[in-house]
Amino acid sequence: MSIRLSDGTEIPIEMHKIRIVQKTRLAPVRERLRAMEEAGYNTFLLRSRSIFLDMLTDSGTNAMSDNQLAAMMQSDDAYAGSESFYRLEAAVKEIFGYEYVLPCHQGRAAEHLLAKTFVKPGDIVPMNYHFTTTKAHFDMAGGKVLELYTPEALKAESACPFKGNMDLGRLKAAIDKAGPKSVSFVRMEATTNLIGGQPFSLQNLRDVKALIEPLGIFLVVDGSLISENAYFIRQREAGYEKTSIRDIVREIMSIADLCYLSARKSASVRGGMIATNRKDLHEAIRPWLPLYEGFYTYGGMSSKEIEAMAVGIREMTEVEVAGASADAIKYFVGLLLEKGVPVVTPAGGLACHVDAMRFIPHVPQSEYPAGALAAAMFIVSGIRGMERGSVSMDRDKDGNDVPSDMELLRLAVPRRVYTMSHFQYAADRLKWLYEHRELIGGLAFYEEPPVLRFFGGKMNAKGNWGLPLAEAFEKHFGPDC
Ligand code: F0G
Repeated sequence: MSIRLSDGTEIPIEMHKIRIVQKTRLAPVRERLRAMEEAGYNTFLLRSRSIFLDMLTDSGTNAMSDNQLAAMMQSDDAYAGSESFYRLEAAVKEIFGYEYVLPCHQGRAAEHLLAKTFVKPGDIVPMNYHFTTTKAHFDMAGGKVLELYTPEALKAESACPFKGNMDLGRLKAAIDKAGPKSVSFVRMEATTNLIGGQPFSLQNLRDVKALIEPLGIFLVVDGSLISENAYFIRQREAGYEKTSIRDIVREIMSIADLCYLSARKSASVRGGMIATNRKDLHEAIRPWLPLYEGFYTYGGMSSKEIEAMAVGIREMTEVEVAGASADAIKYFVGLLLEKGVPVVTPAGGLACHVDAMRFIPHVPQSEYPAGALAAAMFIVSGIRGMERGSVSMDRDKDGNDVPSDMELLRLAVPRRVYTMSHFQYAADRLKWLYEHRELIGGLAFYEEPPVLRFFGGKMNAKGNWGLPLAEAFEKHFGPDC
């Protein structure tokens, strides 16, 4: 939630008390440089002990509530017929209005099951934007992912409230060209992760559905960040200012035919699921669940996490919970705008996204500006962010690099984990880095996995630019900072 102070400024305010904490440590700059070098300039390969603030992701790292932890204590570990599953099923019915639930170990497992069941070689899968694991699974099944966003979506600086909307003209043209039978389904991601956590509007979702339903094509919502998307609809879509998050989530689900999600995000646990009211879709997927994930009533999840998920999907519809991270991000983005640091606007869900193309325009895309910026940020702050640019794109069939639409350093804001002083520190170090941006150079791979290379790939800093950057930082702040 945000609150207005007497002088008119708005600050994010915590609607919770912090009762358990975990220590963190700010390693000195030389140690951070060494850690970055050992990690091959890939923030995924850092060890937690070197990290001060972990803004890699909100996935599985949101703070859980007392009620979630309490629920874990009553879990039922039965291999089959676990009561924990039935409590999850009841929560999904209450919040989503869906009858059928298939738990799975996380979001990409759901994507695997959808790809296995519905994506046939030669199919197209239209979506508002891809996510890394989504695209990898659908590609591997022989499908072609089509990203049918509107022209606003890729403008880093924008005032458009719904940059996650689908372009209906492009959708119609794509379906006309391929023929409805070659469309696996249409996928709408609730806040487009890779291009700034931008929401879709309910009107757009309704329009997509109206277009595809008569053609016999079903609509899938990736609901990993469903409560954040609902929160933005409440803030930005005319007519929804007074609607509860619960009612907005329910309305999204009543339009979609099926929702899958990573429960590691909005639901604040570690797990995933596929839910629907369509018996035919459910029955098509269900046989594969015990083969790839686990029995129908646990699907690879721990029963403790299933219990916490049932609580989490109810709690995520409380406005204070749905908006906790979104309002902190808005504040964080506001600090950076004040300091002139180029960021994606409007502020979205999940993270503050720094625009590496404008931050270090002297680093060409072939040298991975977003990856370089993520590494530089860690060296000067101990803050771990994530590259969301060309490193996150795998090579094409001929081995060529595929330049990403945007080059972003994602600084994730896990829910209820960090406070205003952390954002002030992060914004200050980013400003310092921006003022010294000429010290940042490019990266080149020396180890590169064939798929999802961003997870495990290792890179060199071209010309060894990490050292002069650390030296300049040390000169300004001293060796212990
Ligand atoms: N869909 C979306 C929109 C996601 O953001 C993610 C994961 C997935 C699917 C896959 O889910 O990780 O549980 O298998 N996003 C994480 C992130 C990894 O850091 O943004 P998963």
